[in-house]
Amino acid sequence: MPINLFDFEAIAKERLPKGEYDYIAGGATDEISVERNRRAFESWALRPRVLRDVSALDLSTTVLGTRVSLPVLIAPCGGHKKAHPEGEFATYRAAAARGTIMAVSANSNSSFEELAKAASGHLWLQLYPFRDRSLTKSWLDRANGAAYEAICITLDSQWPPKRERNIRNNYRRTRGINYPAQSLEPGSAPRPAGAEGGSDPAATWKDLS
Ligand SMILES: Cc1cc2nc3c(=O)[nH]c(=O)nc-3n(C[C@H](O)[C@H](O)[C@H](O)COP(=O)(O)O)c2cc1C
Repeated sequence: MPINLFDFEAIAKERLPKGEYDYIAGGATDEISVERNRRAFESWALRPRVLRDVSALDLSTTVLGTRVSLPVLIAPCGGHKKAHPEGEFATYRAAAARGTIMAVSANSNSSFEELAKAASGHLWLQLYPFRDRSLTKSWLDRANGAAYEAICITLDSQWPPKRERNIRNNYRRTRGINYPAQSLEPGSAPRPAGAEGGSDPAATWKDLS
């Protein structure tokens, strides 16, 4: 039985197709940032304090006005169904059961609206500054209609990352099902994360407002 995230990682490596595992585990170019992130995280130390009353523990806090039971949220990651048939539905049920927030990826394998019906927790929606402003508008309307509580806008995916594992595996990303069918360009090369719906590389802070 896996008891920590490293155990889950090892099992995923064993069970997932190599291309899917590498998509999840890999970073861009020499994966220097992946290593740096891990080292930065490892450099944190907790200062132990003693003789405090710790008989009742409470890790809860609020994030943008929503109370969460612990200061850990689920970041938007595309394609949960690549790792498990229940995909985002299972992730959202888990987030709701544990009292935290799930940020749903623009590249989700599940419909925003269907997902919202799967549990009664807290959902945020991730999107990109789309070239097509009407797509942004329609997603904001959908998020609002399905009671999503906040949006996360991803601003660092204007251009394709050089993800060397994906190149070696000839990995093809599939578009999330929430994009309109007419935005499909058959036979197109692998796209940057935000490019499915046409992330706008010219976007600036002005577009955000
Ligand atoms: C497999 C995978 C898929 C991701 N997909 C998305 C995505 O669709 N949209 C997005 O905004 N960020 C995506 N991200 C970025 C994460 O939301 C997050 O910002 C990043 O992993 C850094 O957080 P971490 O250090 O906790 O991994 C993805 C990350 C991973 C590892």
